[in-house]
Amino acid sequence: MTPNQDLSSARGELISKARGFARVECDFGAAKGKFLTESAALNPGVLFVGIEGLSARVLRANKKITRLGIPNAIVWRGWGKESLEALVPDDFLDTLHVSFPDPWPKRRHWFRRLVDPEFLEIARRKLKPSGVLRLMTDHSGYFSAMKEHLDVQGVWEEVSWVDDLLRPVTEFETIFLRTGDPIGRMAVRRRTGLTVCETVPA
Ligand SMILES: C[S@@+](CC[C@H](N)C(=O)[O-])C[C@H]1O[C@@H](n2cnc3c(N)ncnc32)[C@H](O)[C@@H]1O
Repeated sequence: MTPNQDLSSARGELISKARGFARVECDFGAAKGKFLTESAALNPGVLFVGIEGLSARVLRANKKITRLGIPNAIVWRGWGKESLEALVPDDFLDTLHVSFPDPWPKRRHWFRRLVDPEFLEIARRKLKPSGVLRLMTDHSGYFSAMKEHLDVQGVWEEVSWVDDLLRPVTEFETIFLRTGDPIGRMAVRRRTGLTVCETVPA
């Protein structure tokens, strides 16, 4: 795995690119960019920013964006929660999508799961007040763990999965819709005026 590219300098590019857009959404683990490019085409007033760990996928997604002439999508190479921290300013995102993060089903590998309390705390800060985190997974154990972390933090409120934007299906969602495997979906809004620290009893 190559180290994260210099995402703190990419942050400046992101900030200037976001000017003029009514909303900014981030797809973490954007893969080859299916969801990102389709979302951007369907919602031209929204800037869609992808973060993806594998360089080959980033290259492929950005090639597709260029080939289709999509002005409101871009993918950066970044690995792990650190990349979200480095690239995205605080209070910046309207929506953060995390769709089918690797489930690491074996207990001894759970430490590798992306969605953990630390990731959720970074996600909370990167979202605007009232910004929404949208989570999807086919792994019921991981889904329960996500819910538990969110409950413990006490700074999120569940909102309807259906919102005002046109939402295409992701690449992995297509697979599970075809096989009929159940999909856990949850949208939670950042509650304003609360931080994780304030929820910890003295
Ligand atoms: C299972 S795929 C899901 C892809 C897409 N979100 C979808 O729903 O079709 C997970 C994607 O996240 C990327 N990924 C996994 N762990 C990551 C991490 N820690 N940081 C960045 N990307 C990661 C993988 O390379 C892969 O492209």
